[in-house]
Amino acid sequence: MRDRAIEILNANWRDGYTIPSKNLYPYQWNWDSGFIAIGLAHYDMDRAQKELETLLNSQWENGFIPHIIFHKISETYFPGPNFHRADLHPLANKKYPSTGMTQPPVLGFVLERIYEIAKNKADSLRFIKKNIDKVYKNHHYFYKHRDPNNEGLVYIYHNWESGTDNSPLWDPIFETIDAPEYNFERRDTSIIDPSERPTKREYDYYLHIIDIAKEHNYSDNKIAEFSPFLVQDPLFNSMLIKSNRSLITLYKMIGGNEDKIEQLERWQVKSLSSFNSKLFDEDLSAYIHYDLRNDKPIRLVSSSSFSPLFAGIPNKEQAEILVKTMMEKFGGKDMYLCASFDPTNSKFNPKKYWRGPVWINLNWMLYQGLLDYGYNDLANRIKSDTLEILEKVGFYEYTDPRKTIYKGKVKGYGGSDFSWSAALYLDLVNNQPTIRT
Ligand code: GLC
Repeated sequence: MRDRAIEILNANWRDGYTIPSKNLYPYQWNWDSGFIAIGLAHYDMDRAQKELETLLNSQWENGFIPHIIFHKISETYFPGPNFHRADLHPLANKKYPSTGMTQPPVLGFVLERIYEIAKNKADSLRFIKKNIDKVYKNHHYFYKHRDPNNEGLVYIYHNWESGTDNSPLWDPIFETIDAPEYNFERRDTSIIDPSERPTKREYDYYLHIIDIAKEHNYSDNKIAEFSPFLVQDPLFNSMLIKSNRSLITLYKMIGGNEDKIEQLERWQVKSLSSFNSKLFDEDLSAYIHYDLRNDKPIRLVSSSSFSPLFAGIPNKEQAEILVKTMMEKFGGKDMYLCASFDPTNSKFNPKKYWRGPVWINLNWMLYQGLLDYGYNDLANRIKSDTLEILEKVGFYEYTDPRKTIYKGKVKGYGGSDFSWSAALYLDLVNNQPTIRT
């Protein structure tokens, strides 16, 4: 399995970055690169550093880091650079064509993780020192431009920014949007079984939201004012909070930088407090998303609801509540942990993308979060479920949470030879302590 994982990462390596999956995702994706760098760090630190540097090179003048960087034009992906037109934004990176949206800010904790993995700590710290300000600048962008009410909670303006693209979480928002019917040629559904991918109508909404942002040249202020999709996402904000914490740790190791440390600590206090007062739903016993455009909570449970464990956000009682919810809704004995959407909800679909299947990156986070809170048995169950699935089907993009279907020859879903599944497998089997003290 290890050799196979390395083989996949090597095959998906392009000149300076790793594609998530051949044909289906032929460019560099933001949070994918973060997870991939962690896997690369276990066997080729130079390449891990290069992966991150290439991503950071695509940063805009205002600190923004895009979700896809279109290094070379590919015919197998839609929508490409000509649809996104990120260059409409006056501060867009002139060298790297990209989308005008971003993805969960993983880079802070990725830097810390690769430092932990590094055998040559001095070299790793040099690398971090050289690049950490770019990550800080990215956090500054989020707090300055994505938090119109000054709550310490940043918004996403497109479902693709969440990383959980077609989750049923977004359905109630799409019902409020009057999107036209677009004429376009999807490429993904000629590569992957359409029953595993979003529908054409969903794509209409995705494109329409981008068109609205384009009408405003991707201005953050205008997007905050006019985008029909504006959400405070607990997964996205957990990544930011986790990364804030890592940046504080790393700056302290580097020395100096007191002003940045203080600023990060101020953001952190505000973010943590709003996160717990606004996004924890007592009745659902879980963290939820908040629809900022329509000013109402999205009262649905998904694997994102548990991601705050990874960022140390819940107190002990809240963590206990989350674990109970996870076990009751997601943890039945016939289920692999952790489905991406509430298996007891009628919208749960075990085969369709973010509407139910298990995703390795979420499991990787939940495993560590549960360990941090001392839930060692449950953490180890997530880890062994993850390894068992991967051993059964190989390194797919997502997999079925129902144990009952794993008889005879089973397949995963979506892209095969998927980079972050391979990368995080390497991290899970290589360097993770099983019990933390
Ligand atoms: C899908 C996933 C997203 C990921 C991308 C590339 O769009 O939903 O999270 O970044 O594929 O792998």
